[in-house]
Amino acid sequence: MDNNGHNKDKGAKGCGHGCGCAPKSTSDTASKKPQASDSEARAKHSHDDCCGHDHHDHHDHDDNCHHDHHHAHHDHDDHGDDDDVAAFPFFAAPAPLDQDNQPVIKKHKGLVLPPVIGHRGACGYAPENTLDSIRTAAEMGVEWIEFDVKLTADSVTILFHDDTLDRTTNGHGPVAQAKLDDLRDLDAGNWFAEGFAGAGIPTFEEALDVILETHLCINVEIKPCPGREIETAEAVLDVLSRVWDEPDRVIISSFSEVCLEVAKDMAPEWPRAYLIDEVPEYWRDMARHLDVRTININGNRPETTQAFIEEILDEGYGVLCYTINDPQKARQLVSWGVDGVFTDVPDVISEVLITKH
Ligand code: G3P
Ligand code: MG
Repeated sequence: MDNNGHNKDKGAKGCGHGCGCAPKSTSDTASKKPQASDSEARAKHSHDDCCGHDHHDHHDHDDNCHHDHHHAHHDHDDHGDDDDVAAFPFFAAPAPLDQDNQPVIKKHKGLVLPPVIGHRGACGYAPENTLDSIRTAAEMGVEWIEFDVKLTADSVTILFHDDTLDRTTNGHGPVAQAKLDDLRDLDAGNWFAEGFAGAGIPTFEEALDVILETHLCINVEIKPCPGREIETAEAVLDVLSRVWDEPDRVIISSFSEVCLEVAKDMAPEWPRAYLIDEVPEYWRDMARHLDVRTININGNRPETTQAFIEEILDEGYGVLCYTINDPQKARQLVSWGVDGVFTDVPDVISEVLITKH
């Protein structure tokens, strides 16, 4: 727990994503090479089972991959009303400060990179990947949020992180086997706090309605269930392209290189981010192949050093780090050149990275 009562990044513990997964053993990802984008090759290097990280060596992860949210919970029965809006500080200037206390606007190929991105909405304060979480982020004055999108059995895009329903709903079993109608009956809020009981799993379209209404910028993480990489990416891009026309307010990311290939084919003008956990030897070739704007790395892994960050920056990419809930860690990463961080507690991290008005 940090001083604010929020969960701290778990660093060396767990799978190393800061998400509380079981430990991850060494896999062969580091020696894999970029591959052609035919479907066979895509299937080979798709590695987004469990929480979307490259767990080839799969541990039983579905009910382990979670942040330790319960520490951060409020009694949230009255969330979303005006009192709560007033309770959150407002952060208006989207820029970190330089040594002279002046805002630094970093651009990578025209994209202004966000210094703070609410993780799964603002999942330290509301159940992840729900409309409540999105609204909470907006009410806090957060400009950018990240969320995970996958497919139901009947191929509807929904906001959901895990491959199974168990951790974040009162349902059980694989998401890929549940139809949207089955999911409509589930509670995706009560596990987090009683005040959120009744929160549902939103479709991507429902989430986009709230996002457009609240003027948020979005990092859409395509998080396919195993084997559904191409169809998931196609569905995400299809839904998004119907309502979104602002390439400077969206980032498409994925741990799945296949998904990013699809995104590159379908919406080349939308900025892409290459999500990495264990750093593969071929990351430079793959980043070039995928033509990404940023490389999004795990800020809690030991190999996330200043030298590695500078290597990425030297290649011309932006760097965003997940998942950073400790303000001191956020400051350190930014001082090393990181452009922005994903965080469950955007108010806490904004406090140290963004000018307040
Ligand atoms: O996109 C950053 C972060 O969300 C990646 O990890 O497991 O939280 O989706 P995860
Ligand atoms: Mg994510």
